[in-house]
Amino acid sequence: MGVLKLQTCLSSTIARRRILLRPAEPSPQDLMGNCQGVYIGRTKTLNVPFYWDWRSLANPHICAIGMTGSGKSFFIKTFITRAFSQWKTSALILDWSGEYSPWVLNFGGKVATFSKNGGFNLLDCSHATASERKSRKPHAGAAPEVHVSRILNALSLVSGAPNPHSLRLAKEALESAYKRKKISLHRPAKSGKNMPTLADALKILKNKAKKSRNIHAEEAWLALEPFCTPYFSKGPLRIGSMLGSGLVSINLSGLETDAHRSLAALVLMQFIKERMREEGQSEGAGMRQIIVVDEAWKIMQDERSDIVQILREGRKYSFSLITASQTPADISPAILSNSATLAIFRTIFADFRQQLSKSLNCPESITIQMEKFAVGQALFRIALRRPGAYDGPFIISRIDGEVPSKPWSLEAGKMNIKIGRDELKKRLWRLGCTSSQISQVAHLFEKNDCSLKAAELAIQLCAFGLSRSSTLSLLRSINVPDAAILEIFSQMHARTLGVSAGSLSDLVVYDE
Ligand SMILES: Nc1ncnc2c1ncn2[C@@H]1O[C@H](COP(=O)(O)OP(=O)(O)O)[C@@H](O)[C@H]1O
Ligand SMILES: [Mg+2]
Repeated sequence: MGVLKLQTCLSSTIARRRILLRPAEPSPQDLMGNCQGVYIGRTKTLNVPFYWDWRSLANPHICAIGMTGSGKSFFIKTFITRAFSQWKTSALILDWSGEYSPWVLNFGGKVATFSKNGGFNLLDCSHATASERKSRKPHAGAAPEVHVSRILNALSLVSGAPNPHSLRLAKEALESAYKRKKISLHRPAKSGKNMPTLADALKILKNKAKKSRNIHAEEAWLALEPFCTPYFSKGPLRIGSMLGSGLVSINLSGLETDAHRSLAALVLMQFIKERMREEGQSEGAGMRQIIVVDEAWKIMQDERSDIVQILREGRKYSFSLITASQTPADISPAILSNSATLAIFRTIFADFRQQLSKSLNCPESITIQMEKFAVGQALFRIALRRPGAYDGPFIISRIDGEVPSKPWSLEAGKMNIKIGRDELKKRLWRLGCTSSQISQVAHLFEKNDCSLKAAELAIQLCAFGLSRSSTLSLLRSINVPDAAILEIFSQMHARTLGVSAGSLSDLVVYDE
């Protein structure tokens, strides 16, 4: 039996023993404020609820990083819906892959889509809405000469800077297109009517190349020509009607290439920046507008992109920028260092974890956990306005958002098979899928308004290394008919061979 012996001890000796050490987390006061912010989730160590509040932060910008399926878009969706219901903050989403658009519609928001019927006229420098045009003080927009240099800047960000001679000729052709429509180059355009199009500028360049056999004119033509599509020639998209209008998503997924998407996003960003400045500073207006740029790495990488400008000036105009990407290498250091809120979801990049532990003064014991983060778990670093407060990193166990209840629908031939999300997740788990793989499958469903083609699911499972017989038994267990299974496997096989499904003459599917 042990004997308890009392001993005299100096308080300095006890202090050295560090019996009670407060874990590295901001104080409950800094995490919760007056509970007037947007609720995010609870901290992992002390289980304190975290309310994000722009009033206590150095700026309202957020940057989320993490591998695909780690929960970035879920976090952004949760955040913008709560900011809208709490502060009436509008959100404009540049929806790269179309994953936000069905969700925005579900919440009663608006979706603007680029389609073959149009997007916007690239050369329209007014971007005023019809009502703004009628009003006494219309939003004038930029002068054509300013707009031309913006288009050329955006093009050189997208496809690399052309030769200076070709650039000069492209500039001259674009300016001539305005002049031919009798539009002054130096005065801001008041209306979007009678604006030239890219096709007009291309005609001018083609004539020049033909007449004087000018190789630079031909080069300039080649640089502009890929963007001469219906998406950039006409259309109803007007930034004026999209800011301050609740939840709005601009669906860029219908555009043909990443270069088209980047160009559209860069030009839209220019208009957003201009509108932000026009609307002026707004003391006490709260957080007016959120701009979301998710996965658009091409436009987030370059410091010359207007995203960086919006980020630098956003605070004084009450604009918040939310960016998300899979790796920090895809995001310009200006974005990373100017976002007061950094949310790092699961990441397996050892380099990045090391970089983080140095730059955020984050103990390795914390960064090492990032590799094993569950879906929705994230490391937060917030830069508080109040000097002297602890602003080191802390872990949020799970972003506490509303998981949609709509069942998933699997499209197999002409059938639409409804299956509960938990049910399918359980079956995938039993087949040996990891939680990260399951959340990638979930992501495929969510991206397309909770629906997925069975062939796409089978291709994804095959990419995870699942055997065909496992996929076959999964499809059978959820009542996909054999005829549809045959079709799914022929599509899968054709994709592997790089041919069309119709050109397969014989396909054998057998259960091992
Ligand atoms: N905090 C969370 N709580 C519940 N489900 C989540 C959470 N975060 C993500 N998910 C689910 O995981 C899947 C992938 O999340 P998503 O946000 O699309 O990942 P990412 O944008 O990082 O690729 C989605 O089906 C989403 O509903
Ligand atoms: Mg995402």
